Amino acid sequence: MEEKQPVPILEMKKITKQFPGVLANEDVDLELFKGEVLALLGENGAGKSTLMNILSGLTRPDSGEIILNGKAVDIDSPRDAMHLGIGMVHQNFKLVSTMTVAENVILGLDSENFVLDMKKVGKKINEISDHYRLKVDPDAYIWQMSVGEQQRVEILKLIYRGAEVLILDEPTAVLTPQESNELNEIVKKMTKEGKSAIFITHKMDEVMNFSDWVRVLQKGKLVSVVRTRDTNPKDLANLMVGREVLFRIEKKKCNPGEVRLEVKNVSALNSKGIEALKDVSFSIRAGEILGIAGVAGNGQRELTETITGLHKVLKGHIFVEGEDMTNKAPIDLIKAGVSHIPSDRVAMGIVGDMSVASNLAMKEYRKAPLTQYGLLHPKRIFNLAKGMIELFMISTPSPNTNVKFLSGGNIQKTILAREIGACRGLLIAVYPARGLDVGATESVRKEIIAERDNGKAVLLVSEDLEELISVSDRIAVMSEGTIMGIVDTETADIESLGLMMAGVSLKESGAKGG
Ligand SMILES: Nc1ncnc2c1ncn2[C@@H]1O[C@H](COP(=O)(O)OP(=O)(O)O)[C@@H](O)[C@H]1O
Ligand SMILES: [Mg+2]
Repeated sequence: MEEKQPVPILEMKKITKQFPGVLANEDVDLELFKGEVLALLGENGAGKSTLMNILSGLTRPDSGEIILNGKAVDIDSPRDAMHLGIGMVHQNFKLVSTMTVAENVILGLDSENFVLDMKKVGKKINEISDHYRLKVDPDAYIWQMSVGEQQRVEILKLIYRGAEVLILDEPTAVLTPQESNELNEIVKKMTKEGKSAIFITHKMDEVMNFSDWVRVLQKGKLVSVVRTRDTNPKDLANLMVGREVLFRIEKKKCNPGEVRLEVKNVSALNSKGIEALKDVSFSIRAGEILGIAGVAGNGQRELTETITGLHKVLKGHIFVEGEDMTNKAPIDLIKAGVSHIPSDRVAMGIVGDMSVASNLAMKEYRKAPLTQYGLLHPKRIFNLAKGMIELFMISTPSPNTNVKFLSGGNIQKTILAREIGACRGLLIAVYPARGLDVGATESVRKEIIAERDNGKAVLLVSEDLEELISVSDRIAVMSEGTIMGIVDTETADIESLGLMMAGVSLKESGAKGG
């Protein structure tokens, strides 16, 4: 391969940003070269999003300089950034869901002729999507789209507006493996054409495959700059966390007890009224982890939401500890000892305007010792929270800080701590490690295994087959709302699991049933 001639187009110099109680960025330097991809790594809360928000005009730094093509620039708003050719796809998308793709793409553009010719806009969108193989329909509404499609719209919007520097903040955290590959192909094509990208991710294989340079942040400081070809995933993980990271988890042999959850011939509709579960049956015993594998959108979410009382069961039954809980209210399931780590952590998991401590205590507050004579006990809530913050390494200025001020990964850890802490019989964990850094992922997996060793039954939904194989005792594969087969993890291999995920039956996949 021909060596790329690196030309620095963008520099950030000595960027510092203080938030109340946190120094989010401290004297951070960054360089980006034309036609290259820079991977920005760091644990949850390390300051990655803050640094990129500064570059894209959302946040003002306290001090520091940004230099573009050799000239110091002032970036005061996202609009300034866009005029300079800098565009960012945020961790939480900012599309308007009641508008179409085309309307979102032109939204906020200052146009001389505001009576925009929507036909022309549509045509240009189609040209861009053909060129980059970004499959989107200009007339589709955002609310009809999957997360992966919405992300393509975000990227298309930036290309439409002429972005030369593309910032992607954890773009693949919410994508299926196939969608991630598509995204990576798009970024490759863009850099070939001379555009540059800054990519925040926790996935080491993506860093290795798609970046030219890596910068690692730790607690707001730049701790390392390396060329991707001179490093490896293990070294990067260790640099991020500042200690040795285990990729393999040790676990004891499974010692299953009585049946905790039985799902019997269950069918259910999704929120759009389409049959999402078809005749699903399985059971989980105390002291056992059942993993659910499948490409997102094949009924996993509806399965967990049906078990926790959020969707109606059309046919079949759900038993928790032998008791028929079919179509009981969510509160009854919580009372029966069912804990749920939902996939949509912002919407379902947390109250942003309440403190970390209150969020952590949310499920426990009805019981002693947090309530006494019907009164809440603030000191006990504070102490409980302090212990959980330590155990789960939640980075927050104080237990009294409002949750909305935490970074995405730390909000995730708060939900995990609460649900795992409140779990008595059955733990349902949906993508528990999604969006978490390697250190936090390791502790979440260990915590889940510890719960199982404590005699809990665990239902673990994940897209990451490596994770399912290292954590679960058995794995059920879902495709189009049915279970294709259940295998023992000890005899499971990635290839036959992958085949079943694609809808091939257990027998044809060559896997051994469990
Ligand atoms: N608007 C804000 N107000 C207060 N604190 C913030 C705000 N944004 C980020 N922080 C804090 O700054 C630190 C860095 O956050 P962030 O840049 O989101 O980290 P990362 O993206 O690396 O996970 C975290 O401790 C976070 O809680
Ligand atoms: Mg972030």
